[in-house]
Amino acid sequence: EVSVSIRPECLKEYIGQKHVVENLSLAIVAARKRNEPIEHCLLYGPPGIGKTTLAYIIAKEMGSNIITISGPSIEKVGDIAAILTSLDDKDVLFVDEIHRLNHNIEEMLYSALEDFKLDIVVGQGPGAKTLRIDLPKFTFVGATTRIGMLTNPLRDRFGLVLRLDYYSLDELVKIIERSAFVLNIKIDDESAKIIAQRSRSTPRIANKILRRVRDLAQVKQIDKITKGIAKEALEIINIDENGLDYLDKKYLDIINNVFNGGPVGIETLASSLGEDKKTLEEVVEPYLLQCGYIKKTPKGRVAVNQIMIEKPTLF
Ligand code: ADE
Repeated sequence: EVSVSIRPECLKEYIGQKHVVENLSLAIVAARKRNEPIEHCLLYGPPGIGKTTLAYIIAKEMGSNIITISGPSIEKVGDIAAILTSLDDKDVLFVDEIHRLNHNIEEMLYSALEDFKLDIVVGQGPGAKTLRIDLPKFTFVGATTRIGMLTNPLRDRFGLVLRLDYYSLDELVKIIERSAFVLNIKIDDESAKIIAQRSRSTPRIANKILRRVRDLAQVKQIDKITKGIAKEALEIINIDENGLDYLDKKYLDIINNVFNGGPVGIETLASSLGEDKKTLEEVVEPYLLQCGYIKKTPKGRVAVNQIMIEKPTLF
């Protein structure tokens, strides 16, 4: 990373997700007592809410190394075999976007996860043999935004299945204050609240906005973030009172004013916006749905106007 990491490094520093923290904490303390690795963990939930951070915390709390790979980046069975055989006991193998693992790789993982054995076929035809290799007792941590896309056999191999959810305003304020401290910039309560309000209940976005606000403060040679600076930076990056950015607003504008509030199909919306369908589905729509600005119906997307008008803001 170019910039300082502001990720919390231990469970004690981790704000929010109480249920997840309690479960992990119990599993870690127990595993340490038994001098065993912690069970395989599946972390799922929306993007930007701390799944990767937790994987790193698990490794740190266990005093282990972490190896990170992304589901789609592993193409050959040999690649995953090389990674698995080079692990040490209690190491964490973190696989992000685990729902995008190649099928062959997933199949070979079953015995690796269940029995810490790797079956490798050597040779071809009638002379082919299967070799069983013992693997270190590692911990597999998977992260996904789409738990429904995992197969049952894979999901069943996780001892801990933990769901992370969006953060409350108070939790985001705490995260912003902690991050500001780590970044060595002062911030007043009101500004932390303004940033929190516009962060889509997501720490990754809160921290991203905080860095932009800090840039502006530093350019202006101001040593404390106050309301004026926070609002000015938010205006520059074009994020409104409700955390909506340019593309969100354009999306809503098109449903409302070009398609009279809908219903309108996703393909049609995508071409009107000049964006691809996947960006709309995975980046734009989740937050608009969560806030109730839009609804998905069998005939397409529908705008829900009342909520937009009634939505309270801080100002
Ligand atoms: N930074 C990002 N997510 C965080 C969290 N949940 N707790 C503390 N700091 C964070």
